[in-house]
Amino acid sequence: MSMFDRLNRTWLRPALYYGNNPISIIGGAITSASAMTLVGFWVVEFFGHGGSTNPYLGIIFDLCLPALFVLGLIMIPIGVWQRRHRLMVEGHIPTVIPNIDFADPVFRRGIDFVVVATFINFIIFGTASYRGVAYMDTPNFCGQACHVMAPEWSAYHVSSHAGLACTECHIAPGIPGYVNAKVNGTKQLAMVLVNHYPTPIMAGDKVPPARTTCVKCHNPENSFGDKLVVKSSYADDEKNSLTHTVVMVHVGGKDQFGKLSGIHGAHMGHIEYIATDSTRQTITSVSKTNDDGSVTEFVSADAKGPVTGTKREMDCIDCHNRAAHSFVTPEAALNKDMASGTPSAGLPFMHKQGLALLKAEYASEEDAETKITAGLNSFYQAKYPAIYSAQKAQIDQAAKTLVTIYSRNIFPFMKVSWGTHPNNIGHNDYPGCFRCHDGSHNTKAGASISNDCAKCHNLLAVDEANPKLMADLGIQ
Ligand code: HEC
Ligand code: HEC
Ligand code: HEC
Ligand code: HEC
Ligand code: HEC
Repeated sequence: MSMFDRLNRTWLRPALYYGNNPISIIGGAITSASAMTLVGFWVVEFFGHGGSTNPYLGIIFDLCLPALFVLGLIMIPIGVWQRRHRLMVEGHIPTVIPNIDFADPVFRRGIDFVVVATFINFIIFGTASYRGVAYMDTPNFCGQACHVMAPEWSAYHVSSHAGLACTECHIAPGIPGYVNAKVNGTKQLAMVLVNHYPTPIMAGDKVPPARTTCVKCHNPENSFGDKLVVKSSYADDEKNSLTHTVVMVHVGGKDQFGKLSGIHGAHMGHIEYIATDSTRQTITSVSKTNDDGSVTEFVSADAKGPVTGTKREMDCIDCHNRAAHSFVTPEAALNKDMASGTPSAGLPFMHKQGLALLKAEYASEEDAETKITAGLNSFYQAKYPAIYSAQKAQIDQAAKTLVTIYSRNIFPFMKVSWGTHPNNIGHNDYPGCFRCHDGSHNTKAGASISNDCAKCHNLLAVDEANPKLMADLGIQ
């Protein structure tokens, strides 16, 4: 007997004979359809068309589809075993397993069923996987599928980048970025599944460099010239006195002749630094590559001993670190909302009370809502009963706005609070520019990184009640 005959008689024929049962046939169809879908996506990914870089694609391609593939494989022998067992109990096991006969209508129907079921399953799996891929690329998935993203999801909605896919800034294009994202994504998924993840989540070195993300949309060769920044703030007195600060910030950039100017121009591609903490707030050493290729080294006067650590090339994210997740200070949030009408600046001591309520510690979001509302009401009830009864609606509105400010910025379960994520633009709320421009980062010869106010901006008005300039410019 030839090898093939023996194989046919002892394995193939019995397998097909016993395999002709619903469980094995459905199992076969599931396995072949998931295999086809997987192979199809691998081909698409290999040629780089329509492939997605989303790290959580692993959920479909590395977990769901292979799981279905294995499930189908397991169903086949289970069906075979069951049918054999049944035939044995009934005493119907044939002495000779019938030959594979394509003329046999029962056998043919079985084959037809497998082909049709595979086809239908393929369409179902293919569509489901494709839709899964598309879904995993949406900000909704990244921001909401997992509660640990709640702080970033919340801050993202009030940023200029609301609506951009998270992957635009969080995954570098190309194969290394893709692999890196997959590895990180799978690790993070595992951390969440076993309920062991960092609180708060910090960016660290996980955000790809700006040249692979921000620069896709923002042309660094663009010169922005100067930018007028106006800040309004309310005081803690009974009248909530309003003042304005107006600064002309010299943003600059690169002009059409390649000449660098202003803030953007001063750092573009030639500043490196070493930071000693994960949020890069403590900078011990800064080096600047000059036009002639020489390097000027500025070392912090606070640095003890020789400075070591990994150098990072300064890019957009070192200043615009909160471009998409602008957690604000309680002062900034309250000033902004009061300037747009609620909480009403007509309520005595609104600014002072509001700020105190925002800054207090609460156990949870619900606790904050109850205590902020009760706190504001009881203040006006006790100190200004007439206003309390006449302006109850405004007080309720004010309380609601305070609760919204709180819940947009504070996430007790993630240990995200005021100041957890410092903003590096400016220098008033956080060290920002003054991490380097503090006058105490010096060269050996004693020169320091400039902290001349006018290099960065002209102060046109500082905390003035009615700057004439604003009236001239027609700013309300
Ligand atoms: C415009 C670019 C951009 C987009 C869009 C964006 N991010 Fe970010 N994200 C950043 C940058 C830049 C940082 C790093 C901040 C730093 O280094 O301090 C960051 C940091 C984070 C962090 C780390 C914690 C933190 O707050 O620093 C998380 C988590 C995060 N982003 C999640 C998301 C999610 C979820 C989305 C989509 C809903 C998203 N990001 C969209 C740019 C972006
Ligand atoms: C997919 C395109 C895209 C990417 C990627 C992107 N941006 Fe933007 N960015 C925009 C658009 C569009 C606007 C204008 C939004 C508006 O005017 O409201 C904008 C606005 C801005 C602004 C001005 C408004 C503000 O918030 O001060 C800054 C600064 C900025 N982006 C920085 C960045 C940085 C830094 C990165 C990388 C971390 C980045 N952008 C990545 C599209 C993008
Ligand atoms: C040294 C810090 C620093 C670096 C590095 C930096 N910026 Fe800026 N950028 C600023 C400051 C300061 C402003 C003006 C103040 C503001 O917008 O609040 C600004 C303004 C902007 C604006 C808004 C201009 C406008 O008219 O509203 C955009 C867009 C922007 N930067 C993009 C970028 C991009 C893209 C990069 C990287 C190629 C970058 N910036 C690198 C500090 C920086
Ligand atoms: C990591 C350190 C670092 C940070 C952070 C930083 N800078 Fe700089 N900046 C430098 C260095 C180094 C120089 C070059 C100093 C020199 O040549 O003497 C420089 C130069 C400048 C200049 C040109 C000064 C001149 O003398 O012409 C301006 C303007 C400037 N920075 C603005 C800013 C602003 C605005 C911010 C914050 C948004 C900022 N820088 C944040 C390191 C930094
Ligand atoms: C290295 C650059 C740099 C230097 C030096 C600098 N500033 Fe600023 N300053 C900024 C930037 C950038 C902003 C704008 C921040 C923003 O867009 O919100 C700012 C904003 C301000 C504001 C506006 C108020 C606010 O809350 O943001 C004041 C006031 C101010 N600076 C005062 C000063 C004074 C006074 C000096 C000199 C002792 C000085 N700054 C030196 C970069 C600088």
